[in-house]
Amino acid sequence: MTFRASYENKKIFLTGHTGFKGSWLAEWLLSLGAKVTGFSIDIPTKPSLFEELGLSARLTDLRGDVRDLGALQKAMAQAAPEVVFHLAAQPLVRESYDDPVGTFATNIMGTAHILEAARHVSSVRAVVVVTTDKVYENANQGLPFRESDPLGGHDPYSASKAGSEIVFSSYSRSFLQNSSIKAASARAGNVIGGGDWAKDRLVPDCARAWGLGETVIVRNPASVRPWQHVLEPLSGYLRLGQLLLEKPAAVNGEAFNFGPAEDLTKSALELVVAMEKHWTGARHEVRTVNDGKKEAQLLSLDPSKARERLGWKPRLNFSETAAWTTEWYRSAGSKGDLAALTRVQIARFAEKN
Ligand SMILES: NC(=O)c1ccc[n+]([C@@H]2O[C@H](COP(=O)([O-])OP(=O)(O)OC[C@H]3O[C@@H](n4cnc5c(N)ncnc54)[C@H](O)[C@@H]3O)[C@@H](O)[C@H]2O)c1
Repeated sequence: MTFRASYENKKIFLTGHTGFKGSWLAEWLLSLGAKVTGFSIDIPTKPSLFEELGLSARLTDLRGDVRDLGALQKAMAQAAPEVVFHLAAQPLVRESYDDPVGTFATNIMGTAHILEAARHVSSVRAVVVVTTDKVYENANQGLPFRESDPLGGHDPYSASKAGSEIVFSSYSRSFLQNSSIKAASARAGNVIGGGDWAKDRLVPDCARAWGLGETVIVRNPASVRPWQHVLEPLSGYLRLGQLLLEKPAAVNGEAFNFGPAEDLTKSALELVVAMEKHWTGARHEVRTVNDGKKEAQLLSLDPSKARERLGWKPRLNFSETAAWTTEWYRSAGSKGDLAALTRVQIARFAEKN
């Protein structure tokens, strides 16, 4: 799966480009020779991968709110992109309990605004809407979800992303079937990798604690998640964009799961132990917290549709995923060249084709 021929010199509109996944995707797109316009409300963390990579000097860096249709329409029209990747979101489950209305507004109406803006910008050919593995109604039974399973959501974040899937499906069926714009949605699991500095996420919590020589507190040790390196779903998003441009019949209007093979689905504690192997002196303590901010305990994805229809498959095993992630944060701790390491990891990943 090579992407250069599809993305070189292509104009891309990327929302959420200042975030964790957006920064990795921006760096990858730039390395393929794409011309990227980013649209995000803010830089969500300090430190941030976006700043560590010096991205604002290498792309068109716009600040704006996806809840503001007018601003979004104007920015997209000016950028005149062929491909839109929509990653901007309020992406944190716990934050969604503190601000449910803001989460619904950004994640549901933001998606409606992206699709509405895209259908009025004549250059747009492809839209990839990024949601999550949490869009499925989860009875905590541990069965891997397939794309045809019912959507739902207990916490406001999950419900808002299920809502964004319904918005995508409605736009696709109502407006895009006979249009020159093709669209697909991507449901990925929990991603890890260098450069995530969000609060209340396990890997950044480990990096912060270990970087200070402290013990990390693991609050949901038994939570089973389809952990994967951030580059895995991003390769899926790039593949979707590529096929929407070049062979749309196979993907248009469809949703795809991107997750590790079932046997790589591990608990939070197993991930911490795997990372500790690569970080001298790293320690953890399990302290289960019950503050009413409920998160699903069991979540796994069946990625066979993406394998069969997109030819997509995960490239890193669990131990490589933990090793690459720890390598990045150790380098951050020792003031290494993070931009160079990020590019090396992208190149290494692409070679695993
Ligand atoms: N990180 C994960 O494990 C994970 C897993 C599954 C899905 N996702 C999805 O991937 C996408 C990116 O997640 P991330 O982890 O990089 O998040 P992040 O918090 O690092 O980045 C969020 C981005 O969205 C932007 N944003 C937030 N609200 C906005 C608004 N109202 N208008 C414009 N921009 C806004 C932020 O400025 C930032 O660029 C999200 O859609 C998220 O739901 C993430």
